[in-house]
Amino acid sequence: MKLSGTMTVNEKGHLSIGGCDTVDLARQFGTPLYVLDEECFRNNCRFYYQSFVQKYGAAVTYAGKALLNLAVCRLVYEEGLGLDVASGGELYTALQAGFPMEKIYFHGNNKSIAELTMALEAGIGRFMVDNFHELELLNDLAGQAGVQAGVILRVAPGVEAHTHEYIKTGQIDSKFGLAIETGQAIDGVKRILKLSSLSFKGVHCHIGSQIFELDSYAHAASVMMDFTRQVYEQTGVAISELDLGGGLGIYYAEGDQPKPVQEYADVIMDVVRKRANEYDLPLPQVIVEPGRSICGPAGTTLYTVGAVKDIPGIRKYVTVDGGMSDNPRPALYRSRYEACLANKPGRPADDLVSVAGKCCESDILIWDIALPEAEPGDILAVSCTGAYNYSMAMNYNRLPKPAMALVNDGRADLIVRRENYVDLLRNDLVPERLERSKPVGLVSG
Ligand code: LLP
Repeated sequence: MKLSGTMTVNEKGHLSIGGCDTVDLARQFGTPLYVLDEECFRNNCRFYYQSFVQKYGAAVTYAGKALLNLAVCRLVYEEGLGLDVASGGELYTALQAGFPMEKIYFHGNNKSIAELTMALEAGIGRFMVDNFHELELLNDLAGQAGVQAGVILRVAPGVEAHTHEYIKTGQIDSKFGLAIETGQAIDGVKRILKLSSLSFKGVHCHIGSQIFELDSYAHAASVMMDFTRQVYEQTGVAISELDLGGGLGIYYAEGDQPKPVQEYADVIMDVVRKRANEYDLPLPQVIVEPGRSICGPAGTTLYTVGAVKDIPGIRKYVTVDGGMSDNPRPALYRSRYEACLANKPGRPADDLVSVAGKCCESDILIWDIALPEAEPGDILAVSCTGAYNYSMAMNYNRLPKPAMALVNDGRADLIVRRENYVDLLRNDLVPERLERSKPVGLVSG
């Protein structure tokens, strides 16, 4: 496993993150445990801040869908970034964390009346409108509330990103945004300009996620600038904000070659500047929305090894106490991960095994990985689990969701409490007509 962030092997020969011994963390907080490396998270925010905000005066809004909770909102705020939310739940989290409203951007392709109303009442910065239905609805609601909603229109630029089919979003045949090619995007802009409670600020695209080719971004930026010119020619309005989405790829496993944030910024800004010059348009405020590349490398999941099952000549399964319930990505996208045994990372990795989860599905977290010989009770650390793990976790098999600890400089603080069995029953109701028997309760003694 490649060590990332503040990971080291300490004097006891254990994996340490943020100056905390991971074996101690597992003992203190239990497993599965999401560990968030604060320094790594903050540094990733700073790469973006320096490369976009300081260097080019661009804006960076962290995509909360990758990982969001109250403590993460505080980190993002302290690092000077804005925040993208994609649902009422994410917005509520930001509100409760005291995140400045004007720095919140609201995404989503089917925002409900309740969600839009909540966002209007809160006075958030931008509504990223996705379709004709939404812009009429938002205009009505803003009108009723007597406010102007600042909107950015999501468009589909028709750019194919080289990434997994399920996380591509820029193509014309997408549920997201209005396509430029069909003429719907320009019609959307014209419609917004006619609606009295909407204030048109700019356009947005997001071509996909876990992207390594900066060419795809350059292409998208160029197409968007062409669209900006079209908008100017047809409406006389110069777009002031150009949001180019998120999606920068990160290292998960051998073969992944992420591009530095600095390079990503230079590539995008170069295209935008050149085109603005060429078309004699004012330089728009560029916005990017990274999620994974900020939180992904900062996360590690600790598991306890249970059953080790060797099928002679076929495969050895090392089973852990979590699985697709805390990390559905291998099941959904065949995502690859690296891991080590946190209590003996230095031992020779000479046993080829597959790491299985405990859900009643095939539930394999990692196929064919070389580890030192694993025994029940060992702590398995899977790296790079900070993005789309906690945020996509589920209660399949009624497994309580894991806790999350924030580590830094030898300190570990619980930032998400582990769910317990009572939490699992919190929303269960039994109609009176079914109440024929009393709960048995646990037999004691
Ligand atoms: N902006 C928009 C409009 C998005 O839809 C997304 C991600 C982002 C920004 C942030 O993208 P990032 O920098 O994190 O790649 N569950 C999938 C990823 C889905 C991405 C959804 N949108 C996965 O686990 O790979």
